Amino acid sequence: MTTLTAAPRALTVTRRHPLIGTEVRGIDLSRPLDGAELAQLEEIWMAHPMLVFPDQAITDAQQIAFARQFGELEVHPSLAHRSSAHPEIYRVSNVDESGEILPSQSSAWQYLELTWLWHSDSSFREVPSKGSILHGIEVPPEGGDTLFADLYAAYDALSDAAKARIEGLTVRHSHDAIIARSAGLNARQDKGSFTELPPVEHPLVRRHPVTGRRSLFLSPHTMAGVVGMDEQAGLALLDELTAHATQERFVYRHRWQKDDVIMWDNRCTMHAVMPYDSATRRRIMHRTTIVGDARPMV
Ligand code: OGA
Ligand code: MN
Repeated sequence: MTTLTAAPRALTVTRRHPLIGTEVRGIDLSRPLDGAELAQLEEIWMAHPMLVFPDQAITDAQQIAFARQFGELEVHPSLAHRSSAHPEIYRVSNVDESGEILPSQSSAWQYLELTWLWHSDSSFREVPSKGSILHGIEVPPEGGDTLFADLYAAYDALSDAAKARIEGLTVRHSHDAIIARSAGLNARQDKGSFTELPPVEHPLVRRHPVTGRRSLFLSPHTMAGVVGMDEQAGLALLDELTAHATQERFVYRHRWQKDDVIMWDNRCTMHAVMPYDSATRRRIMHRTTIVGDARPMV
């Protein structure tokens, strides 16, 4: 008698961009991965910091279960954007839970519009997020692509003089800085409800705890200045580095298809949503966010 053992299904890995943005097929995110699959996926993820899994029509509960295999999950500080059924789901959506498009003057929309700025998730926390997983549930026919910048490559490409200039610098980040970047939110009294988050400091150059590679740690929407530098000079330096890191050669542009699930490493990338007509187009994305293991290392 022959015993048949199920061979592990082969994953197909295809680069969509020379640096960042890699498609993975041959996996079903709706069910638990076995140990070998999980180890294989972790390895792929560490080599390809932004993964795209097409055609994954998962439920929120399945997304949460998939994400938990990589660590504990964050609950987003903004009360208005948490899913009422699953607080671990952050609703990156211009449509509320009852299906209505958010008024452009609502604080809920004004806050989400700030995802159009470059950032890395939870850089306002003392321990920023390890990675995020985002499910495209309703995607607009045009606009609303998501850009991802490879911050390893951006660091590597700096001249030795530029690396020496930023060596050892520390950046102040805060959740309040996000709000301050929105003229609309700033002008109103009700800026939204957020759990309290004190300002934090992070290294400008960080070392990835798994790959050991160095990257720029940029998150322009939470960065408030460089420690020990004049405020304007610090912000100018950060702007200069951001302009460097977001050059086309370091950036993958993700054009969404419904039921794409994407997964990125917040420790070596940043991202931004491209504008879309949020008054008429519906865009519903559900995010789970993996808690980081430790403070960023140098
Ligand atoms: C996020 C975010 C990306 C998007 O989910 O962290 O910034 O494409 N949004 O909506
Ligand atoms: Mn984000």
